[in-house]
Amino acid sequence: MDDFAVYPVHDFGPLMKGLLIGGMGIFHVFLAQFAIGGGMLMCYFQWLALTGRDKDGTARRFVDGYFKYLVLVSFVLGALTGVGMWFTAIQVSAQTIGMMVREFHWLWATEWTFFSLEVISGYLFYRYGPCLGDRMRMKLLAVYSIAAWFSLFWINGIISWQLTPGEWLQSGDVFDGFFNPGFWPSLVYRSIACMVIAGLAACVVINTMKLEPESRRRLLERATHFILPMILMPVPGIWYLLVMPAQSRQWILGGSAAMTLFLNIAVAASVLVGAYAWIALWRQRLNINGATSTLLLALAFAASAGGEFVREGVRKPYTIRQTLYSNSITPEKVAWLREHGSASIDPYPILDASEYPNDQVLEGARVFRFQCSVCHTVSGVNGLIHLAGTWTDDQKRMNIAKLQFTKSFMPPFAGPPREVESLVQWINWQKAGKPDEWLASNDPAKLESIARWLDEAGTRQGNGG
Ligand code: HEC
Repeated sequence: MDDFAVYPVHDFGPLMKGLLIGGMGIFHVFLAQFAIGGGMLMCYFQWLALTGRDKDGTARRFVDGYFKYLVLVSFVLGALTGVGMWFTAIQVSAQTIGMMVREFHWLWATEWTFFSLEVISGYLFYRYGPCLGDRMRMKLLAVYSIAAWFSLFWINGIISWQLTPGEWLQSGDVFDGFFNPGFWPSLVYRSIACMVIAGLAACVVINTMKLEPESRRRLLERATHFILPMILMPVPGIWYLLVMPAQSRQWILGGSAAMTLFLNIAVAASVLVGAYAWIALWRQRLNINGATSTLLLALAFAASAGGEFVREGVRKPYTIRQTLYSNSITPEKVAWLREHGSASIDPYPILDASEYPNDQVLEGARVFRFQCSVCHTVSGVNGLIHLAGTWTDDQKRMNIAKLQFTKSFMPPFAGPPREVESLVQWINWQKAGKPDEWLASNDPAKLESIARWLDEAGTRQGNGG
């Protein structure tokens, strides 16, 4: 397969593409993690029933009740949003998802078999659980939760590889990529997250059940066992921070306001849940009520969302570190594109091309779509005319030519001086409200300056990252 195939991209208007996929990812991860943790929790409660620890039968009632539907709904919705992820991924970055599928083909197929097992055993339990004996129920739930956890195991290797490909960069070995430096901390972190989410959701559900106070207390205490591991979360959290690229670490520790803010939200929300679990549930043996558990579950969602946002964000300017830039250009290809141009290799038509006042502005629109549109919109989220609209022309020329130094979130500019100038003219034309007439600029001295700036910037990412 040609590694430089150009795929058509979908334009989501003012909504940034990265944000779209990130937003979908947050829901998907939360639901999928709940389905995994929920399986473990049902297993635990079923084990209580099997081993005679569930004297009043409430644990079994819980497993057969409302909670079962919740886990089922989350795993159906988790699967649907999973398909949604594929659907958006191919529209936003076919190149990235293509490279992931090519690299991890069989491992992804393996993940799929575990997922199938999860679906089948989950459905069997839903359908036949109530009429089966405790031993058989236990087996079915064990299959469900082991399969669910293993689907996390497999996907975790592929996703963590994107940020920390590690040895794979040199060896190209699929298992070097899979068991990359981020694999274990991320797996431990996510496994704990699965348990905590399930424990909190269980507390919400238990509070809606009609139970004797003593039975309720006992059930809640047992669900709390799933929330307490939260206290260990800083260990894989810090471990992950240590294995991530230095540059990414700098961003979340202050270098980028947005990243730092989201990390802080994730940490603060986690600390609140953890502190409540430790102080109220463990030390003081308080019973968690419906309102509190719902609030804590919402905090857990905020923590997940913040964490996923950071994980997606710190990969910039790569979708696969040192291998593929977010705009689907490989680092090796930049020099070639500098010479031959980027706009001309994108074969897809520009929408309403006849409304552009001249060929230069039209070329600018192509360059924008090809190189910038994955992270920028024209005037919506991270809109270019907001960011660069007030700059002088030379400022635009230089900052775009030296893109990877302007902000280290961005890849190097991958086109000849002419394309920088087209982009500048396109920004100016957009900023001016898209007038019908627009004079093309063709001052050779300007192009010479741009050429010098491009040379100064080089074709590589600024800080060796
Ligand atoms: C990998 C994602 C990504 C790509 C690709 C990308 N940018 Fe950016 N760009 C960003 C981020 C993130 C910022 C920071 C936004 C902020 O500070 O709010 C940014 C900021 C900017 C700024 C403002 C810089 C400043 O100092 O205020 C300009 C101008 C800009 N980008 C232009 C471009 C152009 C032109 C392209 C295409 C040739 C491009 N970007 C491609 C992610 C990207």
